[in-house]
Amino acid sequence: MGSTHLFLKDKSVPFTKRFVFFSFYVLLPVTLLSAYLYLLSLTTQSTTYHPSLSSPPPFSSHPPLPSSSPSFSTEKDKVYHHSCDYSNGDWVHDESGPLYNVTTCGTIKESEKCISNGRPDLGYLYWRWKPNECSLPRFEPLTFLHLARNKHIAFIGDSLARNQLESLLCMLATVSTPNLVYKSANDNKFRRWYFPSHNANFSLYWSPFLVQGVERSNEGPYYNTMHLDHVNERWARDLDWFDTIVVSLGHWFLLPSVYYEAGSVIGSLNCPHLNHTQMDFYLPLRKVLRTTLSSIIERKRSKGKSEVDVIVKTFSPGHFEGDWNKAGTCLKTKPYKKEEKEVEGMEAEMRKIEIEEVENAKKKASEFGGVRLEVLDVTKLALLRPDGHPGPYMNPFPFANGNGVPEPVQNDCVHWCLPGPIDTWNEIFLDIMKKWEQHRKI
Ligand SMILES: *[C@@H]1O[C@H](CO)[C@@H](O)[C@H](O)[C@H]1NC(C)=O
Ligand SMILES: *[C@@H]1O[C@H](CO)[C@@H](O)[C@H](O)[C@H]1NC(C)=O
Ligand SMILES: *[C@@H]1O[C@H](CO)[C@@H](O)[C@H](O)[C@H]1NC(C)=O
Repeated sequence: MGSTHLFLKDKSVPFTKRFVFFSFYVLLPVTLLSAYLYLLSLTTQSTTYHPSLSSPPPFSSHPPLPSSSPSFSTEKDKVYHHSCDYSNGDWVHDESGPLYNVTTCGTIKESEKCISNGRPDLGYLYWRWKPNECSLPRFEPLTFLHLARNKHIAFIGDSLARNQLESLLCMLATVSTPNLVYKSANDNKFRRWYFPSHNANFSLYWSPFLVQGVERSNEGPYYNTMHLDHVNERWARDLDWFDTIVVSLGHWFLLPSVYYEAGSVIGSLNCPHLNHTQMDFYLPLRKVLRTTLSSIIERKRSKGKSEVDVIVKTFSPGHFEGDWNKAGTCLKTKPYKKEEKEVEGMEAEMRKIEIEEVENAKKKASEFGGVRLEVLDVTKLALLRPDGHPGPYMNPFPFANGNGVPEPVQNDCVHWCLPGPIDTWNEIFLDIMKKWEQHRKI
């Protein structure tokens, strides 16, 4: 595993070639396509949780705080301030470093354990996101768990949903140990962790389109199939159980796809031999979000009093550089400064659609109440971090066997090292939770 040969053998390569010509102006970062095909298929090979690897967390032996305890009321009466726009800012140097490491966290996927896999430079760990007009507080695990008490938080979507949840669990595990209480058979696509200290559940649902469909695979068709008007029941049937939902989607939409509505094909993306109308993926992305958010609102409304909070994470750009057919790399070791990179092209368009659909859904939800929606806008802060990906260190010691010039090795320039810049997404997530908590009290 882990060589470029895997994707070169992939039968979809001729279509990716055509795809490049078809969509060059639609998809600027085409260099990463070949790697997408390979990388996005790796999502099931996650690690399992090893409680034995965790050092004893400082507070885990404490019984859950009774709701009348002084510290609880202090927490409850805290006034949180929120008027900050986190979307734009700069990465600034920060000595304090991450809250956790691979020794203290047992939930990190092997391919994101960059340091254990031999990544030599550690500078990428010492940056903090500084929004233009405010400061983003460092992650506070106890505050997060307090706000998650008696709740079920579900991460639904693609492998970046998993990446973000794993980061969150690592930070929370510094104060309380989670138990892996559910894992789907033979893969890690569906998992649930339980924090007995706070009666809080965290679930992971693999559903890269959010709607019903079948992902492309090496064994099956080279294209995705998506039913744009039907949510994926694998997660939707558990909707009543969720208090908070975080959705992540985007990268799978770049791959060849066939789109259905009302059971019939309405077009396809880069599947020339199927003779469908060629479409781009922007409309399908919009429809998928609309279907998903509408279904959540409608199902909650039909249930009456239950509430749910929904967060849509915006597109997180990858950073492949180099020839698309020679597996690009991401070798930078420092963030870009904010002036160096603008969110533009395909990335800007995806982000815009995601924000518009959340705004749309907010209007719909406001008629009935019970559903709060928010955007977790990570596009710019992620774009500025070409240094935060595993790159070749998605595999252990990728250059160990080379003598002289290393063979081309597969790079991961889509997911994020843990610890790493994705920890910031959860700092913003916590801030959204605080804001909601404050609104609830008003
Ligand atoms: C990981 O963190 C723990 C606790 O802060 C520390 O004792 C340990 O030395 C760290 N390990 C590594 C490999 O940095
Ligand atoms: C979390 O899951 C456990 C079962 O694993 C259940 O007993 C508990 O009630 C759940 N709590 C919440 C808040 O969903
Ligand atoms: C697509 O159209 C071509 C030319 O009309 C035809 O030869 C081919 O069989 C069609 N393919 C499918 C899958 O319908």
